[in-house]
Amino acid sequence: MNDTLKTISERFSCRNFTDQVPEKKYLEAIAQAAIQAPSGMNRQCWHVIVVNNRDLISEMDKEGINILSLMEDRSMYERIMKRGGNLFYNAPCMILIALKEAYPKGAELIDCGILAQNISLAATSLGIANLHCGFVGLAFAGNRANEFKEKLKFPDEYECGMGVLLGYTENAMPPHVPNQNKITYIE
Ligand SMILES: Cc1cc2nc3c(=O)[nH]c(=O)nc-3n(C[C@H](O)[C@H](O)[C@H](O)COP(=O)(O)O)c2cc1C
Repeated sequence: MNDTLKTISERFSCRNFTDQVPEKKYLEAIAQAAIQAPSGMNRQCWHVIVVNNRDLISEMDKEGINILSLMEDRSMYERIMKRGGNLFYNAPCMILIALKEAYPKGAELIDCGILAQNISLAATSLGIANLHCGFVGLAFAGNRANEFKEKLKFPDEYECGMGVLLGYTENAMPPHVPNQNKITYIE
């Protein structure tokens, strides 16, 4: 197995971060890997925001929990409460991917996912634990959205795509076991 395949096989979703902040040179390397991602017609309708401000991350977490608690369907709220009651697992750092709507509508989401995967694989290769976090979007679902967009310096016309949490893990978990039935070979 080569280094790339090894990194892919070792990536796991971290839900128990220590306080240690990844070094700036690593965050810069990860941000570079992010914007190296391919995108349809090379549209690059993304903006990568590296957030090291713990107070801001915590504020967004609280707002996300608040939005979840107000939802009619309580299942996600209860799931998060069982997992410790916060959305971002005390991660000291987050890369937020802001997106501008592409044509055809929704195509930007595919680019966003690829970029996010570049982040998590680059991080894993550097020994930095990570988690793809769709719940980041909750912080932008209520009336504090503009406040957060301003604090995070979103470019005009950009919306929250998703986030990737970064840090170091208290204890590494195994990634999911791939389901081999999900592959078909046609010869
Ligand atoms: C688009 C996307 C959004 C996700 N959002 C969350 C999230 O908000 N919170 C969370 O704890 N895990 C989230 N995950 C992590 C998945 O639960 C995880 O990848 C899956 O359970 C497989 O586990 P593994 O990553 O350890 O292999 C997300 C993953 C993806 C790809």
